[in-house]
Amino acid sequence: MQTVNRIDPLRKAVAALRRDGRLALVPTMGALHEGHLALVHEARKHAERVAVSIYVNPRQFSANEDLSAYPRQLARDSAMLEAAGVDLLWAPDGEAMYPPGYATNISVSGVSDGLCGGSRPGHFDGVATVVCKLFNQVRPDVALFGEKDWQQLAVIRRMARDLDLARPGVDAIIGVPTVREADGLAMSSRNAYLTPDERTAAAALPAAMHTAIGQIGAGESIALALAALEADLLAAGFQSVDYAELCDAETLAPLAKRGQAPARLLVAARIGKARLIDNMPA
Ligand code: PAJ
Repeated sequence: MQTVNRIDPLRKAVAALRRDGRLALVPTMGALHEGHLALVHEARKHAERVAVSIYVNPRQFSANEDLSAYPRQLARDSAMLEAAGVDLLWAPDGEAMYPPGYATNISVSGVSDGLCGGSRPGHFDGVATVVCKLFNQVRPDVALFGEKDWQQLAVIRRMARDLDLARPGVDAIIGVPTVREADGLAMSSRNAYLTPDERTAAAALPAAMHTAIGQIGAGESIALALAALEADLLAAGFQSVDYAELCDAETLAPLAKRGQAPARLLVAARIGKARLIDNMPA
């Protein structure tokens, strides 16, 4: 596995990999776990060569968020990627990504607005901007993202269509199902912020979501099922619930009634120092 930190060597490395066939990109912020590795394994099914990026993107953190606390463990991550058969690690230094004078922002309206976009203003502009830059830097044939971050996946799909980042006829943005711990908690780099007691309590999140989905499926009112879900989380030890919404799976428009279109239950809630998100088909 080759590791590069600057744009010029990246271009050379990418040109060499392209000669071997299709190239897949897996963007990450590091602190890798089995969820990230699932993206790498899926990438290998779609392309001859796999590149992974690791970059803790300051533009997607707001001033009061965990940018400085975000776990950084490049040596460990690099060994995991090498073992997973990754060909290229793109770990840009800060100046390579945002040189002095950098001034461009990408904003995907509509799908970015509610849910995490409501509780984290500007977050998805930061994500869209860095992912667009990563696509232009690596020019992959396909890129893989986790369903764990369902709204992020929807924002990136919208941007790729709108900015012609995908080749026509190619499903270039591939979503990979959420990888979970044995007790159902979605794997996340932010789970490392939890104390052992909080970690145990956090399993209430997927459990309460399953309960709510069962209630909605049985004809319970959506509003009542979501209120019960919030109460379950607070009773289990979560401090607050940023949102719990049933949405159209693609547009993310909130649904007051369960209709024909695929629906998704999306939740963000805070426990200890962590803000955890999860989503499931409903
Ligand atoms: P990060 O949180 O490191 O996640 C990188 C990718 O791994 C994302 O596509 C995310 O959805 C996926 N992922 C994380 N946990 C997962 C799990 N338990 N199961 C399946 N996939 C999982 O998401 C980001 O970084 C950043 O916003 C990024 C897209 C890299 C832009 O900076």
